[in-house]
Amino acid sequence: MAKELFIDLNRCQGHARCWALAPETFGIDDEGYAYVLPGREESYDEENVRKAIKNCPERSILIRDV
Ligand code: F3S
Repeated sequence: MAKELFIDLNRCQGHARCWALAPETFGIDDEGYAYVLPGREESYDEENVRKAIKNCPERSILIRDV
């Protein structure tokens, strides 16, 4: 089963640490919430992304089976 990185927008509060730590994977939308950049859904195993997951205060960066 494949895995995919995603942002739980019910939890994201716009701290932007994800974007600061892994700008190649995360963007911030016009309202200040995070999103996974197109084509980067499978980057969950990369070092910067792991740091972002650990550093999100709301624990809103998640990995799901797809
Ligand atoms: Fe949201 Fe966490 Fe990033 S709160 S903006 S996913 S650091």
